[in-house]
Amino acid sequence: MRMSVIGCGYLGAVHAAAMAELGHDVVGVDVDEAKIALLSAGKAPFFEPGLPEILASALASGRLRFTTDMAAVDDASVHFIAVGTPQTKDSYAADLTYVDAAVDALLPYIGEGDLVVGKSTVPVGTAARLAAVVAPTGASLAWNPEFLREGYAVQDTISPDRLVYGIADPSSVDVLDEVYATALAAGAPRIVTDFATAELVKVAANAFLATKISFINAMAEIAEVTGADVTQLADAIGHDTRIGRRFLGAGVGFGGGCLPKDIRAFTARAEELGRGESVAFLKEVDAINLRRRQRVADLAVDALGGSVNGRKIAVLGVTFKPHSDDVRDSPALDVAVRLKGLGAEVVVTDPEGIDNARLRHPQLIYTSVAEEALRAADLVVLVTEWPQFTSLDPREVGELVRHRRVIDGRNALDPTAWKDAGFTYAGLGRS
Ligand code: UDX
Repeated sequence: MRMSVIGCGYLGAVHAAAMAELGHDVVGVDVDEAKIALLSAGKAPFFEPGLPEILASALASGRLRFTTDMAAVDDASVHFIAVGTPQTKDSYAADLTYVDAAVDALLPYIGEGDLVVGKSTVPVGTAARLAAVVAPTGASLAWNPEFLREGYAVQDTISPDRLVYGIADPSSVDVLDEVYATALAAGAPRIVTDFATAELVKVAANAFLATKISFINAMAEIAEVTGADVTQLADAIGHDTRIGRRFLGAGVGFGGGCLPKDIRAFTARAEELGRGESVAFLKEVDAINLRRRQRVADLAVDALGGSVNGRKIAVLGVTFKPHSDDVRDSPALDVAVRLKGLGAEVVVTDPEGIDNARLRHPQLIYTSVAEEALRAADLVVLVTEWPQFTSLDPREVGELVRHRRVIDGRNALDPTAWKDAGFTYAGLGRS
């Protein structure tokens, strides 16, 4: 199939490369010339395991190209909208400027038999509005949300755990079935539904995941005042298959480009629809999540006897999760900034996130060499559970630091091993 992907950010670049890898003929379009130049040269503009490999093979096959010229979409019959929907500056609502601009830019090139497929995460009601914009051209519109996780984006795109088609025109189903023939043949479940349900599936899934994380973090708060251990609690309730252990990792909380923004945009949209009370709990989910960041800062102050001022703190991790270079709404970066704000000498180390973090917070000290951050540190704070950090030998770390104190902001270290190496250990919801 000939297809275009409008927007070559995280979602679009991976989608374009994966579709070409699956045998489709794909053109990726973006207004950012630097990004297009990188992608055309086979270089991923962000860190994503597996992406450079499929970019290289898809470009070499001749089935994939990137351009800033919208006219290049003329030959394609399926057009994916994969532009960003960031949080607006002055409210929690999603900013649809890029989605609207992408659809407008497509209009001259689409007609009867073409299908525009929205993949961006949008407030419920957007697809119906855009379908009316597209209709005069004779083309149809479908909403096909994307559930990819950073760090597993290639795998999640090639082998999705479900496909959701939000459609109004029944012929869209056959087109999408052809797009996703490989995943369907491998048994991926397919849900064909209306626009509103498809849009809501995405935000509901992210709201549920965020709620699950904040639930266990709320339990961590209770564990902290009772002496209970939240990781054992999570293990015990997680054995109940109705609950499940995944996403019960208590720690410094969720961040990234999706979960925080999506629950806020969902709240804003529900309020617009007069149903704010239905998702009012999401404000609490957000508040619990943000409190955990302050909790790490408070633990640091306690660990250093009441003040971090002038003390060297090694912050292990700056990305919102491991296997990513993304620092958007990163709890780890937020903790580092809070500690710096309290007067600490903060040295941040991370395998992939330093360049992005430095752009946002140049006031912090960064090093890609963990030993440099650890050397003569008064306190070690782990906030992103990169394997490089969780596998550190506490005895070797003990030789580097000035004082053996560690805060485990992800409950990812073995408390016994660190205590045996002479460290005072504090986790989140366990000690
Ligand atoms: C998420 C959804 O998982 C994905 O389906 C959607 O398409 C986009 O948003 P992503 O943002 O890549 O994906 O990250 P995810 O792996 O879901 O983690 C989100 C955040 O939650 C991270 O900051 C992570 O550290 C945190 N988290 C996750 C926890 O704090 N505890 C957990 O148990 C799990």
